[in-house]
Amino acid sequence: MQKTRTVLVTGGCGFIGANFVRLLRAKRPEWRLINLDKLTYAGNLNNLAGIDEGPGYRFVRADIGDAAAVEALFAAEPIDTVVHFAAESHVDRSITGPAAFIATNIGGTFTLLEAARKSWSGAGRQGADSRFLHISTDEVYGSLGEEGYFSETTAYDPRSPYSASKAASDHLVNAYFHTYGLPTLITNCSNNYGPYQFPEKLIPLIIHNALQGRSLPVYGDGRNIRDWLYVGDHCEAVLEVLERGVPGRSYNIGGNNEMMNIEVVTQVCDILDRRLGLPATGMTRRTLITFVKDRLGHDRRYAIDATRIREELGWQPQVDFEQGLEMTVDWYLANQDWVAAVVDGSYKEYYRTMYGGN
Ligand code: NAD
Ligand code: TYD
Repeated sequence: MQKTRTVLVTGGCGFIGANFVRLLRAKRPEWRLINLDKLTYAGNLNNLAGIDEGPGYRFVRADIGDAAAVEALFAAEPIDTVVHFAAESHVDRSITGPAAFIATNIGGTFTLLEAARKSWSGAGRQGADSRFLHISTDEVYGSLGEEGYFSETTAYDPRSPYSASKAASDHLVNAYFHTYGLPTLITNCSNNYGPYQFPEKLIPLIIHNALQGRSLPVYGDGRNIRDWLYVGDHCEAVLEVLERGVPGRSYNIGGNNEMMNIEVVTQVCDILDRRLGLPATGMTRRTLITFVKDRLGHDRRYAIDATRIREELGWQPQVDFEQGLEMTVDWYLANQDWVAAVVDGSYKEYYRTMYGGN
């Protein structure tokens, strides 16, 4: 029989967190979820529209770095499970403003670990079933050349303030396992795409700009490679690791789907051309592609070896890239009011700083 859990989800109003909260409400309706989110520019209550507060779900607005707020939550709720998504997540923002990444990704993770350790050791809840699952990224492993894959034993070699802050948090999580016996797990996943992704990341930014008839910025030569995974597949993997993963272990999650950025961007253009017909210019949206100045320290290639999660837990991606990208474009087309709401003044200011224009 399934164990009933009281789960603290952090960052549940962000892209992956919201998809995960939706998955849990559908698949584990008997679990109680507490969603702790600061609602930064990336967190949006609309991402959870239709998920109502009640015995199965509670929303708490707070900073994961606020020790008093986090400890109060552990005192008030019988939390036995943490799934920790909350983070500053965008590499470009980490280059222009790294401080928030250090505070949230390192300081915030430390605060959560401490609260879980104190609460679970004190209340005797650090039993066989309690779990602290830390959601991390493949970017901690650095950048690959043309050959090779990241496995769980690849040495950490982060190269951006974002990936360095995530690497530091992974090390802290492992330290809490080895030192205090906290039942931790880590997942290191490749690039996600899908519904509710903030339009600063490549795929939703390209969809949004193409719909506005704006130029489509491709960094450098466009030949950097990412391993794209549909967000629903990532969330299924997180649930598998949570329920069946071995504490102390980390699990790489990937889509087996390496693509050059320029290939991703042209595919988005082609889907939009098929769905909407050519724009008024009569020219394919591919003509909007503009090569722009490269990102500082731009990692060349990421690619995941997901053998461990496949062999130990039987997880494999279910959605192939073509199908996932079509679903994603269709979601954005059907949810233009969601996009209009998040593309607010602060987004416009960010966009001007990054790309100029308006
Ligand atoms: P996101 O930026 O869309 O959402 C982050 C969420 O965390 C937001 O709801 C935000 O309000 C919240 N948050 C930020 N700082 C907070 C704080 N101090 N206290 C409380 N809440 C705070 O991020 P995402 O893309 O959904 O990523 C979620 C996690 O998955 C991150 O840890 C990220 O490193 C990891 N990850 C992301 C990807 C990807 O492709 N997006 C891939 C691998 C791993
Ligand atoms: P991004 O979605 O920011 O994810 P990450 O940097 O975490 O991999 O970027 C994905 C790739 O797309 C990355 O190689 C940078 C590139 N990129 C562009 O070429 N143009 C853009 O406007 C953005 C946002 C990203």
